[in-house]
Amino acid sequence: MERCSVAQQQLEDIYHRKFYYLRLSVTDVCNFKCTYCLPDGYKPSGRRNSSFLNLPEISRVVKAFADCGTSKVRITGGEPTLRKDFTEIVNVISQTQGIEKVAMTTNGYRMKRQVEDWRQAGLSHINVSVDSLDPRLFHQITGENKFHDVMDGIERAFEVGYEQVKVNVVLMKDLNHHQLPQFLQWIKTRPIQLRFIELMQTGEMNDLFKNHHVSGVAIRNQLIANGWLLKPRGQSDGPAQVFYHPDYLGEIGLIMPYEKDFCETCNRLRVSAMGKLHLCLFGEHGVDLRDLLEDDTQEAQLIERIQHHLQTKKVSHFLHDGNTGMTPHLASIGG
Ligand code: 5AD
Ligand code: SF4
Repeated sequence: MERCSVAQQQLEDIYHRKFYYLRLSVTDVCNFKCTYCLPDGYKPSGRRNSSFLNLPEISRVVKAFADCGTSKVRITGGEPTLRKDFTEIVNVISQTQGIEKVAMTTNGYRMKRQVEDWRQAGLSHINVSVDSLDPRLFHQITGENKFHDVMDGIERAFEVGYEQVKVNVVLMKDLNHHQLPQFLQWIKTRPIQLRFIELMQTGEMNDLFKNHHVSGVAIRNQLIANGWLLKPRGQSDGPAQVFYHPDYLGEIGLIMPYEKDFCETCNRLRVSAMGKLHLCLFGEHGVDLRDLLEDDTQEAQLIERIQHHLQTKKVSHFLHDGNTGMTPHLASIGG
């Protein structure tokens, strides 16, 4: 197959979904211990950290996706900023022709000190996790007493020029699902898009899902009853249903993977820190791309492998059937 170009084939699956958005994990390592992700902390799986994709490999994989129409890359982990070359990674990705948005998902722990460098390197969008505005509950959920550092990091992001910051909240019954009023108060005067994410069941989760999963429907109903309005969706936007309100500077996004037809608007592909292509968060092993990332001469084969594998992408994640598949926790392929 020839190199993709605008006139040629874009990344598209058999259900005619087009893929403009790559989520690239750059490390599995994390320094937090979120109860829903790595409750016992990060455990190396016998591999050395040096086996994560290096800078040239990252550059090649991003270039191949960009040449097939990908315009947005989100850098994920683990905690991506634990990589010493994180700022260079941002730089390499933002310099890639065709990439218009470079986003990252972070626990926020290095943001206060480094966000200015990231911005200069070309990071255009930030998602940071804040599961509670109560410092003690934040500590309980993340295993780290870092609430104030993270909040300072968010304020710093605004100071260095970010117009909006997205904040992820994993919705958990009896832990934070009652805290909507507190969160609303917080975003009234701040350009924050708060994103409530329904807890997803992963392979290593025991009772957490059973005890704490709660649907986002109740929150959606509260928002609608209080005059919040649904925003139309952009091409490279994620699956969030985003609401806005004339009295609030902030917005609310709801990510409800258990809702019917959630996967219909899927526009993302994932590459793990080990260089495997994953078509979905759930239920498959991934296809190794690494042998084709060794030098600059193999882009055509790389694209062919991605295209070929993409044709096997399933219509849905089948989470409803309790299918957590091969995914032990989301730190392994970057949520
Ligand atoms: N369910 C829902 N979201 C999760 N995340 C990690 N694990 C889960 C899970 N089991 C999300 C959190 C975090 C991001 C890195 O990944 O939103 O902010
Ligand atoms: Fe780390 Fe993010 Fe997982 Fe929390 S959710 S343990 S911050 S990778």
